[in-house]
Amino acid sequence: MNFRTAFPRRIVFERSGVDKLPELLSDLELSGKVMLVTGRRFARESGYLDKLRSLLAKSGASDVVVFDRVEPNPSAETVNEGGEVARREKVDFVVGFGGGSAMDAAKGIAVLAAQGGEISDYYYPAEVDPPVLPVIAIPTTCGTGSEVTRYAVISERSRKNVVVSDHIVPVAAVLDAGVLDHLPKEILAHTAMDALSHAIEACFHVKASELTEVFSAESAKLIFESFGPAYDGDPEHREKLLYASMLAGLAINLSGTVFVHGLGYYLTEKYGIPHGLANSLFLVRLIEYCSEKASERFLSFCGRLGIESEECSKVLAEKINAMRGHAELPASLREAGIPEAELQNIVEQALSYSRNIENCVKPPSKEDLEAIVRKAF
Ligand SMILES: [Fe+2]
Repeated sequence: MNFRTAFPRRIVFERSGVDKLPELLSDLELSGKVMLVTGRRFARESGYLDKLRSLLAKSGASDVVVFDRVEPNPSAETVNEGGEVARREKVDFVVGFGGGSAMDAAKGIAVLAAQGGEISDYYYPAEVDPPVLPVIAIPTTCGTGSEVTRYAVISERSRKNVVVSDHIVPVAAVLDAGVLDHLPKEILAHTAMDALSHAIEACFHVKASELTEVFSAESAKLIFESFGPAYDGDPEHREKLLYASMLAGLAINLSGTVFVHGLGYYLTEKYGIPHGLANSLFLVRLIEYCSEKASERFLSFCGRLGIESEECSKVLAEKINAMRGHAELPASLREAGIPEAELQNIVEQALSYSRNIENCVKPPSKEDLEAIVRKAF
């Protein structure tokens, strides 16, 4: 057995957990000036911005600087701007409140605040050394798992770039299912598909270990069970999805994502297709590919899921298709509005995300990817 990873020092999973921020900050000995990084609307409109501000003030933070300009698929420009504000204001720690975008931006800002430069200086394969300001991450969707991961994904020049480092793992994650009561079901569906991609892809990564499989399989099981009722608004199942997305985040911390993400990035950058939805268009294809080309790993994953081996590929495809049907998500690239003329570009772009392709336990060839994309169309 062989694995290494970094986890947050604290994970608070509790309905109304955000109310525990003052205790958490004192437990972690965090004080001074805090920057609250969030998106442009949700935090303000839901009342959470005021609530967090007063909780932070109550917890002894000397001042709260609000940076609420993070857009979906956060741009390098926004992160650089946030970093500058954080440096100018001499911020001591950062709270990221939102979906993956806000949390990833918070991580990037925490690096820039401590070390300066531009976020592009830190893109993989660059290493990020300490110091990095402590980050507390509070997710408002059930998808990215960014609250527990060592990744921050930043868009620049129509590319997804990633900062990877154990030092950007949030010092604490607060998972408060109450926040999900506000989540529109369409976003819930997209983000749950992202979590499912993380859970499945993590298993077919070269670095996947026993522990990856434990987190992955449990996460996938919960997503399959809870997606329908959570989409229909049931709070308990939404809570389970939040837990499952965190597990999937821990899984990719131990290994990483593979070609589903590699293929999906272009659809998001070029066509604005939400990240999780873009992944969902290739998930069944990954299952088929791995059942054929990585059968040993595939059987092990199926065993963890408790699905009879010969049937596993079919059963998993049915489960994923049932989820898509329930949420009326497009089932093909064509249905998602992607023109046929783009198929070759999708392949070329995926190949340029070489990490996602080469780290698959059986890396697909260009011809394999062409066949996958053709089938996904
Ligand atoms: Fe993702």
